[in-house]
Amino acid sequence: MTLQGCVAFVTGGASGIGQAAAQQMAAQGAAVVVADVDLARAQQTVDVIRSSGGRAEAMLCDVSQEDEVETALSKTVEIFNRLDVMVNNAGISVRKSMLDMSAKEYEEVTKVNQFGVLYGMRGAAKRMIAAGTQGVIINTSSVYAYLASERRIAYHASKAAVDMMTRVAALELGKYGIRVVGVAPGFVDTPLVQSMNTDPQSWKRLSQDVHMRHQVIRPEQVASVVAFLAGDDASAINGTVVRVDDGFAA
Ligand code: NAI
Repeated sequence: MTLQGCVAFVTGGASGIGQAAAQQMAAQGAAVVVADVDLARAQQTVDVIRSSGGRAEAMLCDVSQEDEVETALSKTVEIFNRLDVMVNNAGISVRKSMLDMSAKEYEEVTKVNQFGVLYGMRGAAKRMIAAGTQGVIINTSSVYAYLASERRIAYHASKAAVDMMTRVAALELGKYGIRVVGVAPGFVDTPLVQSMNTDPQSWKRLSQDVHMRHQVIRPEQVASVVAFLAGDDASAINGTVVRVDDGFAA
């Protein structure tokens, strides 16, 4: 129970990687807030955590709206009295050529993936600093932060931004004892990556070819790294993004 006594807030916690991270941190003793735009699915995640004896609360929160992030974080501190771990994980993508992507579509991805991380980091950091908590902020990046592919220009740009934002925030928050780290998953079998690869041939290629060990990653394999980074065993890991890609970007 390495996260006993900790309070963790996970954005995009109702599905995929965020859901698995919420469950693993709860299994390690953390009280977890599952924050998502899909409250019904967030509540389902909470029900699963509670049925295993864990502590969790579901909260409606659109990370692209700073007031919603602020409200949910304040509610978290009200309910659990502290905030130790902030996982900025919610993310979306639009799959279109740069020639066709509208400015609005580009902006939507940027608002969730990039501004959402900014709002989450500073909302959490302000509360940790005020309480004197030496907390941890974990941002979900992607191998697409540094590997280019076609038809995802906004997604690539937003994830590259998340990597640099992680490093800048680690520098600024180090003096408060707050660590800021990231995870960069490869292809993880979640609704997001399934929606980006609707063509059965491309999904088959992805499943068989891209990895050194020829497998698509399970959300739990990323979640266990998130849970490790959240704990004291990772106390020397700061200002960096850990690849969890089965060697895809090796
Ligand atoms: P997912 O689609 O399974 O889950 C994303 C969750 O975020 C959903 O529950 C959704 O309702 C929520 N969400 C969407 N917009 C939101 C908003 N504005 N505010 C709050 N919640 C919102 O996706 P997955 O795959 O678990 O992705 C999680 C993170 O991992 C994302 O940041 C994604 O970019 C990143 N990632 C995923 C990879 C993959 O292969 N699945 C690879 C690399 C990175």
